[in-house]
Amino acid sequence: MSQPNEGQDRLDYQETADITEVHAAIAREHAEPSADVTPIPTWLSIVCAAALCWAGIYVGIFHGGFNPKVYNEYESNPTAFFPLPGGATSGPGGPAVELTALQLGEKVYKEVCQACHQPTGLGQAGQFPALAGSEWVDGSEYNEKRLVAIVLKGMKGPVTVKGAAYNGAMPPQENALKPNKLAAVLTYVRQAWGNKGGEITEAQVIAAKKEFADRSDQWTVEEIKKIPLDAKLEGAGAPSTQAKTEPKSGDTGKPAAPATGSFDLAASIQRGATLYPTSCGTCHMPNGMGLPPVNPPLVGSELVTGDARRTIAIPLKGINGPLKVGATVFPGPMVPPALMFPAVINDDAKLADVLNYVRNTWGNKADAITPEQVKKVRAEFADRPAPWTEAELLNFPPTK
Ligand code: HEC
Ligand code: HEC
Repeated sequence: MSQPNEGQDRLDYQETADITEVHAAIAREHAEPSADVTPIPTWLSIVCAAALCWAGIYVGIFHGGFNPKVYNEYESNPTAFFPLPGGATSGPGGPAVELTALQLGEKVYKEVCQACHQPTGLGQAGQFPALAGSEWVDGSEYNEKRLVAIVLKGMKGPVTVKGAAYNGAMPPQENALKPNKLAAVLTYVRQAWGNKGGEITEAQVIAAKKEFADRSDQWTVEEIKKIPLDAKLEGAGAPSTQAKTEPKSGDTGKPAAPATGSFDLAASIQRGATLYPTSCGTCHMPNGMGLPPVNPPLVGSELVTGDARRTIAIPLKGINGPLKVGATVFPGPMVPPALMFPAVINDDAKLADVLNYVRNTWGNKADAITPEQVKKVRAEFADRPAPWTEAELLNFPPTK
């Protein structure tokens, strides 16, 4: 009688006819609670990484100069990352990159000065003095040092402008605006609304900043008037860099004559700095370090700071085949930049500026390249279609 008894013991199992149903019930009971650590799903990590990358790129392109006070889209540089076809540096509707000083000045004026001095430049009776026709901007009280000083440090107390008396306070602009923008806006107010003043350069603003570094107060008119009317700031723009350049400095081999009195190397470098990011800088990078293993550095390269004639010839024609720079062999080619940035490369003065910039930045040091020299080299190789090879560059063909 032991058989039925054993059957009685396993009553549960016998109750159900289907063994798989029993197993399913048992399996369910064991699987329910789980204390495992589940890894983040791969797809989620990828999505997060992509979002971070995108955010980084976005901020990198549209950083607006990271100025907490003034958003300036022109500090951003979308075309450095997405060059427009045909070498155009600005697209319809898109932010223009290659702004003239006056355009930048107008933009800064609208953002910063216009709220007080008004779009008309006429100011507001009794509150904000006029800039249009102001003797301080372009008249009997004008002096470059005075004007830069007023805008750098601000001004307070009684002042007479165009026969009208004011007694307000203008906030200092030194920390809100970088020197290049201050220079641009000052050049703008000197030339807008019928004013006929000359240019104020970035170098002049920097010189004034240095000179008045210790000063923190706004000026009073008496203090401003102590700056003599014939005071000068270093770094005034050359009247015309293109018209008067040393004709003999283009000779090959021997280093060109050092910057002559009529060619202002510092100003040329400055202009070049604005051209570089949207031309050579797209490959050789803003810091000149290139992007190994594809794009070689311009920093510390003999091909950059050596023979000026050869340095001019490189961007005109490009380079084919492998090229050793430092210890690295770059596969090439360097597509002739003239195909991509004709506005810069096909203009003697602009190419000279951008070359002066790369030859005198990041610790590079070389003599000035004048538009005359560029013109000469351009003519010399006019009927050469092919890019250079390493062998040619190392043994650069002498002048015909
Ligand atoms: C918050 C208002 C305000 C802003 C912004 C401002 N100014 Fe002024 N500005 C004044 C006032 C007020 C005076 C007169 C100060 C006084 O009475 O001593 C003045 C005086 C001046 C003067 C000398 C007097 C004259 O009219 O020629 C110049 C030049 C000038 N400002 C230029 C600028 C420029 C350029 C900017 C922009 C970068 C600017 N200001 C932004 C309020 C402002
Ligand atoms: C489209 C990308 C690109 C642009 C734009 C560009 N380069 Fe290059 N550059 C290269 C590459 C790639 C090489 C290496 C060529 C090779 O290996 O044959 C090179 C090589 C050079 C070299 C010789 C190697 C060195 O680093 O010294 C010089 C000089 C140079 N470039 C200057 C310029 C100048 C100046 C401009 C702007 C006018 C410019 N490049 C624009 C890609 C570029």
